[in-house]
Amino acid sequence: MPTIPHLLLAATGLALATLASALPAQGSPPAPDEAARGKAVFRRHCAACHGRGPGDDGSPHLPGTAALAARYQGSLPGALEERADLDTETILYFVRHGSGPMPMFRKTEVSDADVGAIAAYLATSAASRQK
Ligand code: HEC
Repeated sequence: MPTIPHLLLAATGLALATLASALPAQGSPPAPDEAARGKAVFRRHCAACHGRGPGDDGSPHLPGTAALAARYQGSLPGALEERADLDTETILYFVRHGSGPMPMFRKTEVSDADVGAIAAYLATSAASRQK
């Protein structure tokens, strides 16, 4: 039968492993499965407004991409998947508060870990686009 200190050690190990997977070390490349998960969350909750596509002609089909393209006037890409400057904190702020026509998302819809995964995906997709 395991002793109580053994159980405590096991629980601490589990908590640390969970924390480590939720918070990728600063500067290290995101784990591929984290980025893949972020891509799925992005497609489901964000891409309808922030995808790439027919927004380039100025049509309002992608309101997020169109609004950001209009705001940045070429100094930053309109599509979030081409932005290398968005960290988890920044994305979390917009996801929790919304912005203009962008709705806020509750943690039950898009969790903090989901936002971390989105950040990992955007970093990966932006990097793969840099020539
Ligand atoms: C209903 C459309 C819509 C959805 C869904 C949506 N957004 Fe947005 N988002 C927008 C619009 C429009 C803006 C520009 C807001 C403004 O002009 O104030 C924006 C702005 C942002 C910004 C700010 C970027 C900047 O440079 O200012 C971030 C980050 C962002 N959205 C992330 C997300 C993420 C992540 C999701 C999915 C969880 C998401 N959005 C879902 C419409 C949307």
